[in-house]
Amino acid sequence: MFKRLKNCHNTEDFRLLAKQRLPSPVFHYIDGAADDEITYRRNTQAFDDCDLVPNVLSGVESIDMSTTVMGHKMALPLFLSPTALQRLFHHDGERAVAAAADKYSTYFGISSLSTVSIEEIGENFSAPKMFQLYVHKDKGLTNSMIERCKAAKYDALSLTVDTIVGGNRERDLRTGFTSPIKLSPRSALSFAAHPEWTLRYFFGEQFELSQLKDYVDEGTNVTLSIADYFNTMLDQNMNWDDAAAIREQWDGHFCLKGIMSVEDAKRAADIGATAIMVSNHGGRQLDGSRAPFDQLAEIVDAVGDKLDVICDGGIRRGSHVLKALSVGAKACSGGRLYLYALAGAGQPGVDRALGLLQTEIERGMKLMGAKSVAELGRHNLRYR
Ligand code: LAC
Repeated sequence: MFKRLKNCHNTEDFRLLAKQRLPSPVFHYIDGAADDEITYRRNTQAFDDCDLVPNVLSGVESIDMSTTVMGHKMALPLFLSPTALQRLFHHDGERAVAAAADKYSTYFGISSLSTVSIEEIGENFSAPKMFQLYVHKDKGLTNSMIERCKAAKYDALSLTVDTIVGGNRERDLRTGFTSPIKLSPRSALSFAAHPEWTLRYFFGEQFELSQLKDYVDEGTNVTLSIADYFNTMLDQNMNWDDAAAIREQWDGHFCLKGIMSVEDAKRAADIGATAIMVSNHGGRQLDGSRAPFDQLAEIVDAVGDKLDVICDGGIRRGSHVLKALSVGAKACSGGRLYLYALAGAGQPGVDRALGLLQTEIERGMKLMGAKSVAELGRHNLRYR
């Protein structure tokens, strides 16, 4: 059935809308994950192993969904994880996502591999901004991104620690996905079948990786796969001393994205991180890695009083957010939950996706008898 935005009622609907609108290499880059995609699927399935137990008769006409994360009170306990290459998915890219974050007054992430500059986002949007840093072998490039974020007064810096090498994304190997896009006999049919996307891409605003273009040709003028980008451009020797040094260089909130073990969560607190994203990169890196929700409780127990613990990945429903908050996460975050909507319909799509999730969270809190996020706790969870 032909999908329209007004018929999208959940993430899966947005996924089908994106599939309809995008050439297949681009769709599968968003939709795909590593190896057998077991971790990717488990990220969402993990929520099904745990049930919510409501308390009723609590007088819930007006409830407060707000939470404070990395120094900002957010109206919604859910924010938009940094994701790469957004102008490939929709021509408004990061601009559309930032505008939606403004509207819902929630954090949003800007990737090192974003397609709009740090400065443009900094000047035009008021939502709290988190820059996602990849540590490149080119120290000048890494340093320039940190300094540009300081000058543009970003609120938080998030160092990604789970991409030390590229994950094995077999869908990308099959479709030949690269940045920038390279037409091949294999993919040409799919591009031809999506003329609106293809004409915009080839004749509209030029594609660029805005933070990288003055330093490296890779990704903007030289095509390569994302796995090759990670394998050749990023510093595989990055270690805890480097993370501590970046923390020193950055004055604001500092987050480590991709922490999965209690040991690492404790080290993050030791070096002065103010947040961690419990995350396996949407299942795109180490297949077989545990799901963030499965791993959340032991991390919250170890460091929840020292820093903000964020549950990143697998969130498709408001009830998933309620479960993670009940375990003790300060907030949840996700990529595909807004990327499908961006790809399918630009800012109106992201607005609608966030609006639906906000409504689900609100409805769920009322049905749970919780007037504020603080009233959710492990007392209202049971594991099967
Ligand atoms: C990815 C990177 C670029 O997962 O974040 O594709």
